[in-house]
Amino acid sequence: MKLRLTNKHIFGLKVFIHLTALLPLIWVFYQGAIDQLGGDPVKEILHFTGISAFNLLLISLLVAPLAKRFKIAPLMRVRRLLGLYAFVYAMAHFLSYIFFELQLAWQLIISEIIKRPYITVGFSAFVILMILALTSTSWAQRKLGRIWQSLHNLVYLAAILVALHYIWSVKSDVLQPLIYWALLLILLSFRRQKIQQLIKKRKKTLA
Ligand code: HEM
Repeated sequence: MKLRLTNKHIFGLKVFIHLTALLPLIWVFYQGAIDQLGGDPVKEILHFTGISAFNLLLISLLVAPLAKRFKIAPLMRVRRLLGLYAFVYAMAHFLSYIFFELQLAWQLIISEIIKRPYITVGFSAFVILMILALTSTSWAQRKLGRIWQSLHNLVYLAAILVALHYIWSVKSDVLQPLIYWALLLILLSFRRQKIQQLIKKRKKTLA
């Protein structure tokens, strides 16, 4: 099956992504500011920003298999935007944690990142997403040449770290994080060959 997407469709899709990503983010902080997020607003904000960041990351990983399956190459033009919004939400999640939960107590922030494994893992994923966001421009792509693709393959590692961070952060009901693991594994299975090649290459350079 082949779908045709024109420039107009892609523009419309981009506007849709901007609206559906930005408006809920503004809304949740506004609700927090007017005290409408229930008894534990910080937990609500952490939950919303964390899960949305993960959703956007998974959707960005869905774009390439969809474009390939339905032969809609222009769809690839929205992948960068989705990845950037995954980072924006991850940033809102991290900032909410250090501002609202830890009240900017820097020593505590550092010790949490070092001593709590699920925070260490989440922070590592965040650093990768930040590097990917900073190097996502066409200019960076041109400057970095072949390194760019290797760098951006780290998105798979980031997604695995996020899934680990999620399942590690829940205290009892692991059903939802397990569903996310299943979705991630399905998305990674579409890139089985590529990931196997990357692992082989890594093993060779380590040998
Ligand atoms: C920057 C470092 C990070 C810190 C300090 C951090 C911190 C936290 C905290 C404190 C929680 C709540 C745990 C609880 O309910 O007790 C949480 C949950 C979560 N985080 Fe992170 N996180 C980080 C990075 C990330 C990233 C990069 C993502 C996704 C891209 C992410 C996604 C999630 C998800 C999905 C949850 C579970 C939400 C829920 O169901 O409540 N986190 N994180």
